[in-house]
Amino acid sequence: MTKTKNILITGGAGFIGAHVVRRFVIKYSDYHIYNLDALTYAGNLENLTDIEAKDNYSFLHGDITDQAYINTIFKQYKFDAVIHLAAESHVDRSITDPLAFAKTNILGTMVLLNAFKALHKNNWAGKRFYHISTDEVYGSLGESGLFEESTPYDPNSPYSASKASSDHFVRAYGETYGLPYVITHCSNNYGPYQFPEKLIPLFINNILDDKPLPVYGDGNYTRDWLYVVDHAIAIDLVFHKGENHETYTIGGFNEWKNIDLVKVLCKQMDEKLNRVSGTSEKLITYVKDRPGHDLRYAIDAAKINKELGWNPTVTFEEGLSKTIDWYLNNKQWLSSVSSGNYQDYYKKQYAKL
Ligand code: NAD
Ligand code: DAU
Repeated sequence: MTKTKNILITGGAGFIGAHVVRRFVIKYSDYHIYNLDALTYAGNLENLTDIEAKDNYSFLHGDITDQAYINTIFKQYKFDAVIHLAAESHVDRSITDPLAFAKTNILGTMVLLNAFKALHKNNWAGKRFYHISTDEVYGSLGESGLFEESTPYDPNSPYSASKASSDHFVRAYGETYGLPYVITHCSNNYGPYQFPEKLIPLFINNILDDKPLPVYGDGNYTRDWLYVVDHAIAIDLVFHKGENHETYTIGGFNEWKNIDLVKVLCKQMDEKLNRVSGTSEKLITYVKDRPGHDLRYAIDAAKINKELGWNPTVTFEEGLSKTIDWYLNNKQWLSSVSSGNYQDYYKKQYAKL
């Protein structure tokens, strides 16, 4: 069948990218989906084994910072659209190695923008560059208020500064060259296939191994949690129905202080593992705070709700339960991604535990 669109998804072997690739490959058999990923420590093709044989899917192993390679594949496959997720995504790693974040997140985004511009030479009809950003570019909220599309940028970590910078370049290419873009800013995702350096999968993994649960500072930091499949649904909607040169904030209407979330997680883990109630909570260990730790993130998702009809479909209780079940049923995945280099990172990051 001739395909109606060639779509490049970057970072499709990562956590959110794998859910987006899966959704697009299964739902849109008239599109050809090219998944470009460098397969860093965070990228894993095992995340996509269920769809890898589909005839509308191809994997491209490459680095978004390599302009020559990127130009070659843009010429070869003539992408009509890009959904750009590839990034260095972990705040703690950005504190120890900020330059790696500038390279991938800023330079990599510019390389893609340049290749898209060179391919289409201002013939933009039906084309789209969708940049996946984060709510962290807005900095930190106090005890009240919500992030929305008009909130001024105020990034505090090298990660969020690099994402903010990449957003500015996307917008600038829109203003300067007319490049048709959309940008979304989502809150914290959780769900299957998340690398166990992020709070929820890290703590599930540690509970399974009877290891301490390192809560930063006093644990009174707040995040707004969204089940990853609901983010993939939002991305699908914005890709197809969002307006060019617009931004959308996406969140779960689901704020939790870290310590409260961790206690709920511990309770569910005890139940699922048939352990005496309170066993996992005993592993909670307060550790030195993350430098520049943002106090609170929370999203007003009214615009995407009103304009595109999006709402989260999965409650937190249901999403957390599904997530834990997935990790319990995929211990092999957990141990294979937690081996090798990740052990060195863990030892350095949590040296005192
Ligand atoms: P992830 O770290 O799980 O995956 C990132 C993927 O990008 C990996 O597959 C990795 O191999 C790939 N990658 C990294 N550097 C690359 C390079 N130079 N060239 C090609 N591929 C490269 O990240 P994630 O949590 O799935 O996040 C995906 C995107 O969504 C990121 O842009 C992130 O900023 C954004 N985001 C994440 C969250 C969240 O809660 N995880 C929330 C909002 C926005
Ligand atoms: O808000 C969206 C962002 O959410 C994304 O842009 C990032 O890519 C993603 O990593 C996530 O950033 P956070 O820093 O909020 O996520 P993380 O899972 O690292 O931490 C969540 C909270 O838990 C945060 O307040 C720090 C705390 N934490 C985290 C770890 C890893 C701990 O207390 N202990 C830990 O060991």
